[in-house]
Amino acid sequence: MAEFTAVGVVGLGTMGAGIVEVFARAGLRVVASEIDEPALERGRAHLTGSTDRAVARGKLSPDDRDALVGRVTFVVGMAGLADVDLVVEAVPERLDLKRRVFGELSKVCKPSAILASNTSSLSVTEIAVSTDRPDRVVGLHFFNPAPVMKLVEIVRTVVTDPAVVADAQALCGRLGKVGVTIGDRAGFVANALLFGYLNQAVSMVEHGFVSRDDLDAAMRLGGGLPMGPLTLLDLIGLDVGLEVLDTMYERGGRNVRHAAAPLLRQMVTAGLLGRKTGRGFYTYGESAAAPDAAPVGSSADFVTVTDEPVIGAAMATDRPSEVVGLFVHGDKLAEVVRTVLTSDAAVAAAVASCTERGLVPVVCGDRSGRVVNALLFPYLNDAVKMLEASYATVDDIDHAMKLGCGYPVGPFELLDSIGPETVLSGLRALHRETPEPGLAPAPLLEQLVTAGRRFRT
Ligand code: CAA
Repeated sequence: MAEFTAVGVVGLGTMGAGIVEVFARAGLRVVASEIDEPALERGRAHLTGSTDRAVARGKLSPDDRDALVGRVTFVVGMAGLADVDLVVEAVPERLDLKRRVFGELSKVCKPSAILASNTSSLSVTEIAVSTDRPDRVVGLHFFNPAPVMKLVEIVRTVVTDPAVVADAQALCGRLGKVGVTIGDRAGFVANALLFGYLNQAVSMVEHGFVSRDDLDAAMRLGGGLPMGPLTLLDLIGLDVGLEVLDTMYERGGRNVRHAAAPLLRQMVTAGLLGRKTGRGFYTYGESAAAPDAAPVGSSADFVTVTDEPVIGAAMATDRPSEVVGLFVHGDKLAEVVRTVLTSDAAVAAAVASCTERGLVPVVCGDRSGRVVNALLFPYLNDAVKMLEASYATVDDIDHAMKLGCGYPVGPFELLDSIGPETVLSGLRALHRETPEPGLAPAPLLEQLVTAGRRFRT
C-alpha cells in the first residue's frame, strides 16, 4: 500500500479548491497549483471563504482552520509538485488542455506518483496515454461541493495497475469519502444519469411546458431532491453542464437525452453561467419575485390524471375549457395540468384551491408524466440500461446517486417502491409521445415486469 503524505492539486476552480480543502482536512500536506497569480489568489480565497464559513457555523475551531490552511502551499506552475505522492488535476474540461497538463506532470512528478484526473466526462484512457506511466493514472471524480458530497468515482482504465486502484480506494476512505470503482465510460455513473435529466428539465422550460420556479419546486417537493434541476445547474455551472453533455453525446452513442438543449448553449454563449457569474437560470443576490395573485370568482372542474393527456377526459365533458388535470404528490405538491382548451380562469381557480388545501401548485402542459414522472421515469430507465450494460451494480448505482447528488433514495430503491410495472407503463406512454430510441423502455425492465420481480429483492 502506498503511503500518501503530500498530494498536489492542479487547477483551483470550484472543484480544485474544494478538493484541496478535502485533502487538508484529512491531515495531508497539499501543494495547490495554478497557472498565474490571479488564479492562485482566487483559489486561496475560495479555501479561506469555505473554512471561515465552517468556523462561523461552529463546525471548525479557529485553531483547526489555521492548521488546515497551514498544510496548503500555493504555487504558480507545476515545478513544486516534484515530491508529491499523488496529483489530482482539476483544470477546465478540455481534452487537449488536460493532455498537456498530464504531459507536464510526467516530467515533473516522481515516477512512483499517481496521476489522477477529476474529469467529469472525458476519457481517462486518452488522458493516461499522454503520460509516461499510463498504468499509474486513474480518474478521481469528486462532486460539488467537494467538502460535502461523499462520493468519489474511481475510474480505472484497461491499463490501470490494480494496486493503484486499491491505493485510490484506501485514500478515499482516509478522506471520509466512499469510493465507487468503475470503468472508463462517458459520464461514469452519476453524471451519465444526472445530465440526461438536467437537460430534459432545460428543454421543458425552453418549450414553455412549465415555468422555471414551478419546475424546481416540483422536483424538490414531488421528487424529494435536495435542489431543483435549474438551481443545480446554476451551482454546477452551465458551461460545465454543456461540456459534459457535449462529451457524453459524442462519446456515448449520440443518445438524444444528451443532445444539449439549445437554450443551454445560448445561455453559455451569453455568459450566463450560473452562480459563478451572478446569473444563470436565476439571478443571485436579488430577492425572489412575488407570485402572481390568483383571480377571484372563477371555477374549475378537476380530473385526476393518469399517464394519458387530460384533453381526452376534458372532451368527454360538456365544458372542456373548465377542465384541468390534477395530480397530487404526497401532502406537498399538486401538478395542475392545463390542456389546449383550459381557460386561464380555470387554471387560476385550480391553483387557488390547491393553495387553500396547503399544497404547492405547479402548472404544466398536457403531456404524459407531467413534470415529476416525465423527468424521473426516463432517469430510472437510464439506470436500468446502465445495469443492463453491466457497467455498474445496483448498489453502486444507488450509492452514486445518493452520495454524489444527495438523492434521498437511489434509482433502484425508487423503482422498487413505485413498482416496476408503473414505471414501465409510464415509460411506454412517454415513448409513444416521443418515439426516440433513447426513450424506449429498457428490455431488462420489460423482462422484470414480465417475471413479476423487483430489482433489490
Ligand atoms: N462548501 C463547503 N460546504 C458547503 C458548501 C460549500 N460550497 N455548501 C454547503 N456546504 C455545507 C454547509 O456548511 C452545511 O454543512 P453542515 O451540515 O455541517 O452545517 C451543509 O453543506 C448543508 O448546507 P446548507 O444547509 O447551507 O444547504 P443545504 O442543506 O441546502 O445543502 C447542498 C446544500 C449540500 C449543496 C444540497 O443542496 C445538495 O446536496 N445539493 C445537490 C448537490 C449535487 O447534486 N451535487 C452534484 C453535482 S454534479 C457534480 O458535481 C459532478 C460534475 O462532474 C459536474
